[in-house]
Amino acid sequence: MISKSTIDQVFETARVEEVIGDFVQLKKSGSNFKGLSPFSEERTPSFMVSPVKQIWKDFSSGKGGTVVSFLMEHEHFTYPEAIKYLAKKYNIEIEETEQSDEQKKEANERESMYLVNEYANKYFQNILLTSDQGKAIGLSYFKERGFTDETIKKFQLGYALDNWSAFTDKAIKDGYNLKYLEQTGLTIVKDEKQFDRFKGRVLFPIHSMSGRVLGFGARILDNTKKAAKYLNSPESDIYHKSKILYGIYYAKQNIAKEDNCYLVEGYTDVIQFYQKGIHNVVASSGTALTPEQIRLINRLTKNITVLFDGDDAGIRASLRGIDLILEQGLNVKVCAFPEGEDPDSFARHNTLEELNTYLKENSKDFIAYKASLLMQEAKNDPVKKAALIRNMVTSISKIPDRIQKEVYVQECAKIMDISEDVLYSTLAQIGKKNLQDANRDYKQKQKAFEVIKPKIQVKKVDVQYLLERKIIELLLLHGNKEEEFEDLVLKENDEGDLDLVPVIQKAKVFEKIYLDLQEDEMEFTNQTFKSLYYTVIDALNQEEGFIIETFINKVDQEISSEITSILMDDEKYDLHDWNRKNIYPKDLDVERLVSETILSLRCFLIEQKIDEIKQQTKDTKNNLNPILEEVKDYNSLKMLLSQKLNRVL
Ligand code: CTP
Ligand code: MN
Repeated sequence: MISKSTIDQVFETARVEEVIGDFVQLKKSGSNFKGLSPFSEERTPSFMVSPVKQIWKDFSSGKGGTVVSFLMEHEHFTYPEAIKYLAKKYNIEIEETEQSDEQKKEANERESMYLVNEYANKYFQNILLTSDQGKAIGLSYFKERGFTDETIKKFQLGYALDNWSAFTDKAIKDGYNLKYLEQTGLTIVKDEKQFDRFKGRVLFPIHSMSGRVLGFGARILDNTKKAAKYLNSPESDIYHKSKILYGIYYAKQNIAKEDNCYLVEGYTDVIQFYQKGIHNVVASSGTALTPEQIRLINRLTKNITVLFDGDDAGIRASLRGIDLILEQGLNVKVCAFPEGEDPDSFARHNTLEELNTYLKENSKDFIAYKASLLMQEAKNDPVKKAALIRNMVTSISKIPDRIQKEVYVQECAKIMDISEDVLYSTLAQIGKKNLQDANRDYKQKQKAFEVIKPKIQVKKVDVQYLLERKIIELLLLHGNKEEEFEDLVLKENDEGDLDLVPVIQKAKVFEKIYLDLQEDEMEFTNQTFKSLYYTVIDALNQEEGFIIETFINKVDQEISSEITSILMDDEKYDLHDWNRKNIYPKDLDVERLVSETILSLRCFLIEQKIDEIKQQTKDTKNNLNPILEEVKDYNSLKMLLSQKLNRVL
């Protein structure tokens, strides 16, 4: 187990905006940061990070919490995994407390798989750089491909000895469990024998966005053998081919910085580009791009440039996949390399300047590129041309932005030498079909919801709910502050009448709230708020230096999530209208805010009480007098409170 002091140190050091910034492109917005939600496909940012409060909130999915809960949600880390990750990021030494055998056994399965991969990664690198066979075969292969020592180290390239079970034997000897060796695919178990999956191959470790080793790509060295050129780790709990982009760990910062992502096919393309000095590059690893992969890129930039090997077949095959990118609202450029070259070979044989110039001059807008490419074939063939129009318009129809769509229609009309009208009417036809499809989907969804529909009620603005919530917010943000509260008390004046006289009293915000509410014997009606209220009051009572960050980290997940949404609620307005802040100063005087909220709640409760009593008078046939007396009392109390409230406002 990780020691308490390590955990505390991690929480004190970690900055939520820095940690999340590694995964989501964040832009400053007032005192907060905002970005695209990493949990949904969206085009307008609804993801907020508050450096002041050290919390985050995703308004599209409703998720939110601390730096640790972000890592748990996003990277699917367990709690200890998240702490370890942060400790590593901030160079904090992890202090472990003694683990019982039971705890050891319970150690997370996935964590064990990561550990095995990490071990294997070190092992294979070591073999490549220090063993005779590694140096003679693996290292010399990489050198032949033009990789420098620095590059080989950077990408953690390795080699697996050409021996049936050299790796597996060593791993087991070093205490690793065969179960995890098999689950990660490093070892193949057959008839109680064990084989190294990657034997005799050079290895490319594949990292997650945060740098964990998810699996490996392994290239055969001997082209004459009949085996596949590349072998990859099999699908597992930690390796999902469709969600991985090779090189994303090394490229993420530069993709955001350059605001563009180069997409290539192979491991070696990525490495060669990187070595040459272009760092914003990732590979789909030879498969058609998936929506998950596009989403990974979408978090970092809106612009993607797809690089093709210089053969026509490759280009044609890739065209289809690109509609998928358009659909997610990214701007796509394409760039083909000269016949017979791939990005790897081209980067290798040219200087950085030449490479950059080539990319600049040959990157074309995808729609225009596709139109001219297909036009070459269809030139004098009307049948082909009709198909081409359809094909083009289908691509255009995927673009979510209407203005962009129009620009493309105009451009395509020029390239294909047809009228815009034809394109528009085809677009309308396709649009109609899409609409029908969407409609059908919608209806199906409706159906699925029908059963539970009656339960869903439109939420009325619930004043009490909002006020209770506001009180919690005040406690969390200002609970420990000492303020001067003005209270109005009834005092006899010289003429013997009663006057409301202001009295100033110094108190901590939480004391004021607690005492005022107690005076009214007021209880929270919302159960979550109620338990939250007592938890917070308790904490404030016990700790001199109540700090919200520490507090959130101590309570359990559910409560911390509730707190986050309360605290981030006002930030929601930032998203739509962050100027608001400049119009209405946010930091109202704490004293006023507290008094106003408590008084409003009291007023509200009294009104409710009066309503209740009035209702009783309708139902009862008995003597109305005592009830009316009560109403009168409440009414005068209400007047008194209103007076106080007016003074505050
Ligand atoms: N690939 C794969 N399995 C294969 C072939 C290819 O996973 N049997 C993936 C690899 O990620 C590879 C990419 O597809 O990097 C591109 O394949 P290819 O163009 O054939 O390989 P190159 O990267 O050009 O490899 P090399 O230059 O080493 O021959
Ligand atoms: Mn190649």
